[in-house]
Amino acid sequence: MISEANAEDDPGDGWFPESVAAGYDAPGGENAPEVVTPAVDVLEDLADGPVLEFAVGTGRIAAPLAARGVRVSGIELSRAMAARIASKPGGDAVNVTIGDMTTARVAGRFSLVYLVFNTISNVTTQDGQVDVFRNAAAHLRPGGLFLVEVGLPDLRRLPPGQDTVPFAVSPGADGDGYVGFDQYDVVTQEFTSNHVTVSGDGTGEFRRIPFRYAWPAEMDLMARIAGLRLKYRWAGWDRSELTAESTKHVSIWETDPST
Ligand SMILES: C[S@@+](CC[C@H](N)C(=O)[O-])C[C@H]1O[C@@H](n2cnc3c(N)ncnc32)[C@H](O)[C@@H]1O
Repeated sequence: MISEANAEDDPGDGWFPESVAAGYDAPGGENAPEVVTPAVDVLEDLADGPVLEFAVGTGRIAAPLAARGVRVSGIELSRAMAARIASKPGGDAVNVTIGDMTTARVAGRFSLVYLVFNTISNVTTQDGQVDVFRNAAAHLRPGGLFLVEVGLPDLRRLPPGQDTVPFAVSPGADGDGYVGFDQYDVVTQEFTSNHVTVSGDGTGEFRRIPFRYAWPAEMDLMARIAGLRLKYRWAGWDRSELTAESTKHVSIWETDPST
């Protein structure tokens, strides 16, 4: 079921309009079972009652989690993304609220709020990211958990004087191709993900999507502002130790009874 958080303050589909949503569930990549299943395994293990996914998208994670019997709700900005959840196995059991995860409220208290696949970085200000932590905490029951999965910025690959890091160079058949690179502003912690797609017929597209990175330590402070404290920090869904070579982290904060 899809409901509206605040119809008067329509957020629009943001960076995920119908044209993006239509291709989001393509097989492979982040939709591959070997990527989805370990995440769902951990979330099922942490769930101790109803759970809430911030930025639930097309239900890539929420639907299989609901299919295992977990009661899942979601908040999502893009109607085009959310419209795809119900058609997936388990997806018809996911209650979705259209709204902004920095402010939108869902009725009830949850054992776990989770925000995966780098989406905290879609909120491009520090204040906005603090609001995400505050809103997560407001949805948690005592002892509840907030989980974030997010990539670590590739700053160690930036030599002095350079601000851009390539992450994909993929020539295709018949003159098709794709090039992706991130451009960092290390002063503001904003970065832009740049996607250049060209076709053999000479047409092409250049998409620039804005993000903001925050180090794990900054997120711990955001959590403290929201009345949460760190419980676990891993390098991935395999619960391995975070090291200087890690490319992402999965961090879990719990409600702090002393605040
Ligand atoms: C990379 S997708 C991730 C979707 C899903 N969590 C997954 O793992 O497949 C990012 C999603 O976040 C949504 N989103 C971005 N900013 C948001 C916000 N402030 N509030 C709610 N949803 C947001 C986008 O519309 C998009 O569906």
